[in-house]
Amino acid sequence: MSADKILIIDFGSQYTKLIARKVRECGVYCEVVSWLSDISAYKKDPVLKGIILSGGPSSVYLKDAPSLSNQILELKVPILGICYGLHLVSHYFKGNVHKGKVREYGKTKIHVTYTSVLFNKLNRELDVWMSHSDYIDDLPQGFKVTSRSQNGLISSFENTKLSIYAVQFHPEVHHTDQGKDLLKNFLFKICKIKHKWEMGSFIDEKINEIQKKVGNEKALCALSGGVDSTVAAFLVNKAIGKNLICVHVDNGLMRKNESRDIIKYFSKRLNLKFINGTDIFLQRLRGVIDPEKKRKIIGKTFIDLFQDFARSAGNIKYLIQGTLYPDVIESSSFRGPSVTIKTHHNVGGLPKSLKMKLIEPLRELFKDEVRELGKLLGIPAEILGRHPFPGPGLAVRILGEVNKEKLELLREADYIYINSLKENKLYDKIWQAFSVLLPVSTVGVMGDSRTYERVIALRAVESVDGMTANWFYMPHKILEEISTKITNNVKGINRIVYDISNKPPSTIEWE
Ligand code: XMP
Repeated sequence: MSADKILIIDFGSQYTKLIARKVRECGVYCEVVSWLSDISAYKKDPVLKGIILSGGPSSVYLKDAPSLSNQILELKVPILGICYGLHLVSHYFKGNVHKGKVREYGKTKIHVTYTSVLFNKLNRELDVWMSHSDYIDDLPQGFKVTSRSQNGLISSFENTKLSIYAVQFHPEVHHTDQGKDLLKNFLFKICKIKHKWEMGSFIDEKINEIQKKVGNEKALCALSGGVDSTVAAFLVNKAIGKNLICVHVDNGLMRKNESRDIIKYFSKRLNLKFINGTDIFLQRLRGVIDPEKKRKIIGKTFIDLFQDFARSAGNIKYLIQGTLYPDVIESSSFRGPSVTIKTHHNVGGLPKSLKMKLIEPLRELFKDEVRELGKLLGIPAEILGRHPFPGPGLAVRILGEVNKEKLELLREADYIYINSLKENKLYDKIWQAFSVLLPVSTVGVMGDSRTYERVIALRAVESVDGMTANWFYMPHKILEEISTKITNNVKGINRIVYDISNKPPSTIEWE
């Protein structure tokens, strides 16, 4: 039985992804689509149980503001409008939406004035997260106010006959008291969701889907050894067995012993081929300094090697990629699918000349769900807990030109750093940690001699999904231990610095 589904219409809020996450945390499957998308296909979708209209930066009374299409109401399932979603509902049914004199922003108290199912078993007074400057003073006919803010403004309303509910505040933001309970009321009491989203049934459904699609054809999976490609490979392997050919490419930009360990572990479990691409990658990167150029060269070289491989292996019809849901959401943002995405997001990034058809078995999942899926597939915690590693590898962690000598220095330093984090039981507390080789030399002293050597920057961040990040409060004692170990053991490094920048304004990687 397929899981019931909620459709989230994105009107451009910074919190849209958070709504999707919260709905998933409630065990309910959901999809996000742009307000510009044609949603007529959902009309015949028997598992669609409800719609959430996200917030958004616009104002309904402005020319060209995103609007509520009739198509949405024709789906005849319960609707929850959040913030801009509330304004849209009011505007659509001819209520009044005005620009307010005060902006309600941040924590605000609301008082529940009517016993709505949406507020079932919630406190009458709630601290909620507001972020708006428009307000409603005149409700459309048939709608009833269900709560007001401390400023006396309408903070929620409903029309039970039409099954439309709307809140001015953001239940998806964790600063809102009982926000998840409110969402649960919408999902389970109003939309009456019965069939929850379970990873076990997801596996069965996906395997079925892949088998039907691929039949007796062959598929190729680029296996970097990271969490996403590993889980994708194990899932597809379960579906089509030997017809899945996994290829691991050593691009010469991997960490110490990485390719060796990948081959050792995976060749026992999957149909694995190995390509040593070190020379061609390093040759093409010679003299290149610009980070985006490095990324493009590396991306193209990967494709060239896969294409050569597919040609010589003959008749490989499908390419498996470990694209995740945050990438999909970003590439179909509320301005529509045409928005350019960051170059390191895989979605839609393959050249037309690549003759294989793409299969992305994880495109509905968030990172933590991928890890859960991996666990069910029997992948060891050690692999599932690995920090993310960028496709261009160490090339974007060597600032400036990449060469073998610099790669060696960085590999040794990073090996010491990461092992120290593991020994000190910090590795699993950190979202991502790595070393960066800086393009400067500084003066040092070793024994009685003057040195003039390279600098390594250590980076460690905490994050939920890599979109924002905070630098990790590393204990000084451990920083000291790592610094001493690196400078004592890696000849050519005489200085270590620790990066204390958050994202934004910095990014996680240095390039
Ligand atoms: P930034 O540096 O943009 O990184 O804050 C966010 C996350 O993405 C990873 N990253 C990449 N991953 N190819 C990838 O596959 C890339 O070119 C790339 N650049 C950054 C980064 O490691 C972090 O997890």
